[in-house]
Amino acid sequence: MDDAHRRATRLRADEFYGRYANPTVRSFEEVVAELEGAEDAMAFGSGMGAIATTVLALCSAGDHIVAAKQLYAGTLAFLQGPCARFGIEVTLVDGTTPGAFASAVQPGRTTIVMAETPSNPRLELCDLDELGSIMGPFTVVDSTFATPLGQQPLAHGVDLVLHSATKGIAGHNDATIGVIAGEKELIDAIWAYGVLHGAMASPFDALNALRGARTLGVRTAHQTATAQRLGEWLEQHPAVARVHYPGLASHPQHDLAKRQMRQYGTVLAFELAGGRDAVGLLLDRIQLARRATSLGGPETLVCHPMTTTHASLTPQEQADTGVTEGLVRVSLGLEDPGDIIADFTRALA
Ligand SMILES: Cc1ncc(COP(=O)(O)O)c(C=O)c1O
Repeated sequence: MDDAHRRATRLRADEFYGRYANPTVRSFEEVVAELEGAEDAMAFGSGMGAIATTVLALCSAGDHIVAAKQLYAGTLAFLQGPCARFGIEVTLVDGTTPGAFASAVQPGRTTIVMAETPSNPRLELCDLDELGSIMGPFTVVDSTFATPLGQQPLAHGVDLVLHSATKGIAGHNDATIGVIAGEKELIDAIWAYGVLHGAMASPFDALNALRGARTLGVRTAHQTATAQRLGEWLEQHPAVARVHYPGLASHPQHDLAKRQMRQYGTVLAFELAGGRDAVGLLLDRIQLARRATSLGGPETLVCHPMTTTHASLTPQEQADTGVTEGLVRVSLGLEDPGDIIADFTRALA
């Protein structure tokens, strides 16, 4: 009884009950903590599980959140729907404007400042040093598009880094899992709420994610190089109005990318001058790349954010965040870069 009592009341005891902790999930958390240079990490059943649990663990009715408007649509929907319903007020700012986060903070009331960099789907950046210098609220950065090898938000003073590990970290489109990393005391506090919220990672997904993490370096090196090459090629194409990729000199925040990113990421976006009709033709004709909405996996995936990942946004929100009719998002896979460029050459012709 003494032993069972000790296990039942210890923080994150992994020999008590699966929702409290699990040794395979714990191994995955330790890997992510090490990759992010964090004291500790905690895994969840999905990226949204990580986001919802973290927000509800740290905020109460009457609190205030400052968030970038450049966010994955699910995160935005969570902040604007359930959070508003629970009396948590959210102020959206343009995360690319210097000083925007700090000037929206209400001292004593703002509990979280949340950013996503690079952002889904237009690869816009937030300044990590600026976020890290905000004192008072917890600063949370969704670093999914960068992976832990692309940037380390905690090294800039940010409190929590968050990933949909479903994407690049697990990397094989066969796991749905999220993770946060930061100081142990903060992670323990989120766990204390999270064990009641129940959005825990499954050991099977954690196993797949651990397997994926072993090859993160070689995968992201290849995918990033292909993204850079495809981006440079698309910039020269007459059907393409604009390419969004932090590794391109034409990206408005390329200098910031050089300062805070070690890899520019495995995803790019571009705008077809022919708008929605041109995107339809591209999606019909692409052969090697697949039409699907995830990212960070071995297959190159192409999607039209306006009708898929960001379909829940109002037309005004889509306009505000640059989700245009002609915008295409591409997640580069592990194929030969020449084959991918040949595929786009054929499809865009
Ligand atoms: C940047 C970002 N954060 C969070 C999520 C949510 O992750 P999940 O699908 O694992 O819940 C996504 C999903 O696309 C995403 O792109």
